[in-house]
Amino acid sequence: MDFQSLLKTKTEAIEEQIRALLPKEEGFQKTVISAMNYAVLAGGKRLRPLFMGEAHGLFQGNAPMLPHFQFALECIHTYSLIHDDLPALDNDELRRGRPSTWKQFGHAMGILAGDGLLNYAAETASGAFLLCRDHSELVNCARAEQVLFGKSGVYGMLGGQVLDVEAEGRAVDKEELFFIHANKTAALIEASLMIGGILAGADEESVLCLEEAGRNIGLAFQIQDDILDMTGTEEELGKPIGSDERNGKNTYVTLFGPEKSKEDAEAMLERAIRLLQGFPARNEFLEELVRHLIGRRH
Ligand code: IPE
Ligand code: IPE
Ligand code: MG
Ligand code: MG
Ligand code: MG
Repeated sequence: MDFQSLLKTKTEAIEEQIRALLPKEEGFQKTVISAMNYAVLAGGKRLRPLFMGEAHGLFQGNAPMLPHFQFALECIHTYSLIHDDLPALDNDELRRGRPSTWKQFGHAMGILAGDGLLNYAAETASGAFLLCRDHSELVNCARAEQVLFGKSGVYGMLGGQVLDVEAEGRAVDKEELFFIHANKTAALIEASLMIGGILAGADEESVLCLEEAGRNIGLAFQIQDDILDMTGTEEELGKPIGSDERNGKNTYVTLFGPEKSKEDAEAMLERAIRLLQGFPARNEFLEELVRHLIGRRH
């Protein structure tokens, strides 16, 4: 099967797992559950669950806990997008080609739907322990849970969002920009690769290598996101363009210019591919998936 067909098949399989694990829209809390499902089911490239599955395959894993972690990470990513779009943060009205969650359900439900997804992610990832077949799987599950919530919190995605918001309207230096990108975006991509490896029993050294590959992919991914915010179209992206300029954000492009930004992003993706080629086994689809991000338009 060619890369595009394989990508479609794998993405559809993830989509199906996600549908199966989402909460039912019923009870007095039905509105918030509808808002959660609205945000998750709006599409999205499902890159993080894909990366997790492929890193798992790279280490010949077949852990029954994997789908729970893929789902939990996509819930956390989606919650980060819901909150990122809120008027108090980026104030964006379009996400994944639809009105953003707060625009569709109101500010309060936007906040609560994000909270709901974060908690639901924790509940689902904890449920994964019940699927473990032996002691070593339990240990892997504990390590994976620690990475999942570590990389999402103040020492990861959330920490990056904090500086991203605080730095609005003022110049940032290289170190601050790196902190923002490495945390708000790369942390969840690092988590995806690391958890895939951990659940397959990868050793510490390999997990650190996966983290470094994820760091490079994540930095490149955010540089491209910043470029697309300036040069893309709303149709391609499914989100508003010019959001960064409106919010006075300092991005890689404002600091280094479009040419160097593009070159650096490509070099980082190439570095990630080389890191992923350094393990005893190869996963060519995973390498292709990273290569596929070079020059992405959405
Ligand atoms: C968007 O992530 C937010 C960033 C970290 C740049 P994606 O581009 O992966 O968004 P979806 O999941 O495909 O909507
Ligand atoms: C946000 O970065 C990354 C998150 C943690 C949500 P952006 O604010 O640039 O993401 P988009 O462009 O709104 O998707
Ligand atoms: Mg933002
Ligand atoms: Mg934003
Ligand atoms: Mg952006």
